[in-house]
Amino acid sequence: MLKAVPGTNDIFAQAKEYPFQEPVFRYILKTAEEVLRGAGAQMIHTPIFEYLEVFQKGVGLTSDIVVKKEMYVLEDRGGRLLALRPEPTAAIVRAYNEHGMKVWPQPVRLFTWGPIFRGERQQKGRYKQFHQIDYEALGLADPLLDAEAIALMVRIYKTLGLKQLEVKLGSVGDPEDRTRYNQYLREQLSPFADRLSPDSQARLETNPMRILDSKSETDQAILVELKLKPMLDFLGPAAQAFHQQVCAYLDWLGVPYRVDPSIVRGLDYYVRTAWEVHHARIGAKSALGGGGRYDGLSEMLGGPRVPGVGFGIGVERVAIALKEEGVAVPPDPSPILYLAPLDEAAKIEALALAEQLRPKVSVEMGYTPKSPRKALEEALKKGAKYVGFLGEGERAKGVITLKHLESGEQKELEPLQLHSLFEGPLGG
Ligand code: HAM
Repeated sequence: MLKAVPGTNDIFAQAKEYPFQEPVFRYILKTAEEVLRGAGAQMIHTPIFEYLEVFQKGVGLTSDIVVKKEMYVLEDRGGRLLALRPEPTAAIVRAYNEHGMKVWPQPVRLFTWGPIFRGERQQKGRYKQFHQIDYEALGLADPLLDAEAIALMVRIYKTLGLKQLEVKLGSVGDPEDRTRYNQYLREQLSPFADRLSPDSQARLETNPMRILDSKSETDQAILVELKLKPMLDFLGPAAQAFHQQVCAYLDWLGVPYRVDPSIVRGLDYYVRTAWEVHHARIGAKSALGGGGRYDGLSEMLGGPRVPGVGFGIGVERVAIALKEEGVAVPPDPSPILYLAPLDEAAKIEALALAEQLRPKVSVEMGYTPKSPRKALEEALKKGAKYVGFLGEGERAKGVITLKHLESGEQKELEPLQLHSLFEGPLGG
């Protein structure tokens, strides 16, 4: 029997592993959508695959996604290489340029949610297919938008019921600040090169900053030993002022955060503001979400200069955090009425009646005729309020037998009486 690829999840209501139950997912997506729509952002859906270059150029040649070949690449019939999206931001910037959004009133604020694909090694909270809620504010390089994005992100988590959160805020500076910092790191780390993990040895050449984010314990021990200066010490005056402004706005808004001077993000397009949201009960290496500013991304994709800032929230990780904090998620609503055909001839009658009643009330039916006792058991299992029986006797009289499951009260009703019973918003 074939099985799902490890690192992917089936998300359905009865899934045994709690975080992957569909009502939990729906609760997260619905809440995020309400918060973001309420803030005036517009929804966008981009394709789940793009030309490979969009992501190669977008997330950058030194990101893990590209270096570790985490992208799922496929070949089109014409031989063009496509990639399943490893993140949505580059695709949204591509869409912004393609549809001439630059002439719209700026900023253009967009959000999306959907599956994301990264061929990472599977572990708790790290999957090959996962889901993100993503928000982007494009077209303005104003620190106000950075503060707003962080505030919106925090509001999504809080509205969901999460409490044990921490926003770690930093700045990765402007490209020239980063060049100076990388130079410093290279100088400091080169004498220890042979003790570094193979990944970090390679990064020493390409992007030493990413070594700071290494998951290897030996690398981390070396970093602690060296007492390296953080990125924040290398900011030029412009990036420094921008960072302070973001902090001032967050203070004004009353959004709690901690300045993390050494924050590093995994994607190459970031400039200036960078942040991650962590949860006290989930490992330090597994952020609930992250974001930042990417003023050069559009140009990396061959477009004009389009400043932007945004965030991505990992839906699976939020689901895990909700479980850790014991947040109760609204369950799926139960059907009001369970219609049970008692013989073959009643099947289509039951379906026709269900179809008539459905706009007013949620109706489920038993598709295979069964005894009234079995039908009752099934209706109870489904959590229905009423069970309706349709058999030979009912057919002869032109009625259905309706039983209120809680009181046990039972009566015969004609279709018209049944319709009026379910007129109310909760179906009687
Ligand atoms: P990211 O930090 O790569 O940022 O991903 C955002 C979030 O997605 C992470 O914080 C985490 O919660 C979740 N995530 C990442 N990888 C996995 C995985 N393998 N399994 C489960 N969850 C995962 C971005 O993708 C940027 N596009 C965010 C952004 C938007 N920056 C600006 N705008």
